[in-house]
Amino acid sequence: MTDRKTAALVGGGVIGAGWAARFLLDGWNVRLFDPDPEIARKTEEVLKNARAAQGQLMKDVPLPAEGEITYSATLAEAVAGADFIQESLPEREDLKIRVLAEIDAAAPARTVIGSSTSGLLPSRLQLGMARPERLVVGHPFNPVYLLPLVEICGGEKTSEAACETAAEIYRSIGMKPLRVRKEIDGFIADRLLEALWREALWLVNDGVATVEEIDDAVRYGAGLRWSFMGTFLTYRLAGGEDGMRHFLAQFGPALKLPWTKLEAPELTDELIDRVAEQSDAQAGGTSLREFEALRDACLVSVMSGLADQRYAAGEVVEARRRALKARGEG
Ligand SMILES: NC(=O)c1ccc[n+]([C@@H]2O[C@H](COP(=O)([O-])OP(=O)(O)OC[C@H]3O[C@@H](n4cnc5c(N)ncnc54)[C@H](O)[C@@H]3O)[C@@H](O)[C@H]2O)c1
Repeated sequence: MTDRKTAALVGGGVIGAGWAARFLLDGWNVRLFDPDPEIARKTEEVLKNARAAQGQLMKDVPLPAEGEITYSATLAEAVAGADFIQESLPEREDLKIRVLAEIDAAAPARTVIGSSTSGLLPSRLQLGMARPERLVVGHPFNPVYLLPLVEICGGEKTSEAACETAAEIYRSIGMKPLRVRKEIDGFIADRLLEALWREALWLVNDGVATVEEIDDAVRYGAGLRWSFMGTFLTYRLAGGEDGMRHFLAQFGPALKLPWTKLEAPELTDELIDRVAEQSDAQAGGTSLREFEALRDACLVSVMSGLADQRYAAGEVVEARRRALKARGEG
């Protein structure tokens, strides 16, 4: 097959491996650069889970023939001739600025570069680039090969065309691009997640709840609703027949009560030990890969259920099934 596209991935940790699976399972070839000597073993393990999960999610629709993965010896080798580049380096601004400049110098002039950063500003990440207009934040969610959302955010020098190209590529591999209108630390999703995370750390710090109890408070209640309605639609329904206005009138006064401690607690050694020990106890010896397989199976169940309703993430799954079917028939 001659028309296979090539994605170059720089950084192949949790997120980079997820991108590798997402692209390979859509039929792209992947060139991955990561100096970790164990990179091939780790990536193959993630790929194994990803194949099983995507296969189940797409039901009876055959996946495209898988692309080939190459573990490149150098960054320049990985990005040469690439049709798209995704950077998933550790979340350190100085490192990303330096390596993005190297990618920029070695990659074909027109190739768009996505950054997986969870919250660093693209205007800063593009500082060392000769062609900064092609740098776009494409912030995914773990596991990248299953969750559709990818936040797209441009910096001061990013071109609209680069944002559109990135969105189009992400959409073509089964994702849901969400454009962030204003450049902001943490973008949209991590602003929300970070608020919850800070509160959760306070609850552990103050001895109000264990890490497991806090997770239960999410997964047996609000988390189930969030997965298909998010916050605003959920609260609209909580307002009964009068909807959001009634909700705001009823719970508005609580906004003045001390229900939140948004400043994070100091990460003292004691707090770190408490969180880590409780987390180990919660895991009860289950390995990372076992948990990942369990997480994937649960996500597939939830997303398949949503696909039956053709709603929220299920709409994306259904659209993907249709697109793959058409591709198979074409
Ligand atoms: N973990 C998450 O849930 C998550 C979610 C969304 C976005 N992100 C973002 O994705 C990025 C990567 O995060 P991660 O969780 O995969 O981190 P990670 O630590 O799992 O992986 C980072 C990888 O980069 C490699 N690396 C280090 N220096 C390198 C270099 N010079 N060239 C090439 N590779 C190099 C490391 O060997 C490692 O494999 C970060 O920007 C993070 O904010 C993470």
